[in-house]
Amino acid sequence: MDAEGAFEKIVTGIHVITVKAGDKVNGMAAAWVTRVSHSPPLVMVSVAHTRFTHNLIQQAGSFCVNILAEGQDDLVTRFGFKTGKSTDKFDGLPYGTGETGSPILDGTAGYLDCKLISSHEAGDHTIFVGEVVDAKAYDKNPMSHGG
Ligand SMILES: Cc1cc2nc3c(=O)[nH]c(=O)nc-3n(C[C@H](O)[C@H](O)[C@H](O)COP(=O)(O)O)c2cc1C
Repeated sequence: MDAEGAFEKIVTGIHVITVKAGDKVNGMAAAWVTRVSHSPPLVMVSVAHTRFTHNLIQQAGSFCVNILAEGQDDLVTRFGFKTGKSTDKFDGLPYGTGETGSPILDGTAGYLDCKLISSHEAGDHTIFVGEVVDAKAYDKNPMSHGG
């Protein structure tokens, strides 16, 4: 069995899941993001228990899926390899604020600002399901990622 090899054949976008809980803002890169319902519009994000973002989403009861555009590799580096437990990943980065209070990143292909409606345990990850309360799509190609 080569589950890792097969999983790497699944093409996804790359996103930054952002959240504001109390005074703390944070974000993490995420490939495991999928639409799960038309009506109401629902999206799921799968977040490892160890991520700082995991607890912040539980505290905030909301999150935003920022859909990275081609060429935004600097944001993957900024949000995908360091933890917000010990660094401010937004330091020096301009951003807006969504309806839920979550940060909205500049220059993306779009975003889905979500209210958390349910959480499901899945191995070492939690699937957070959000109902989209605000969204925008821009005229940019999304970044894609195999695996
Ligand atoms: C391209 C890419 C995709 C990723 N996708 C996910 C994902 O879907 N779920 C997840 O839990 N972590 C994912 N990660 C790892 C987190 O982004 C990373 O561990 C991050 O540093 C967590 O930050 P935090 O501790 O501040 O929440 C991904 C990382 C990269 C570079």
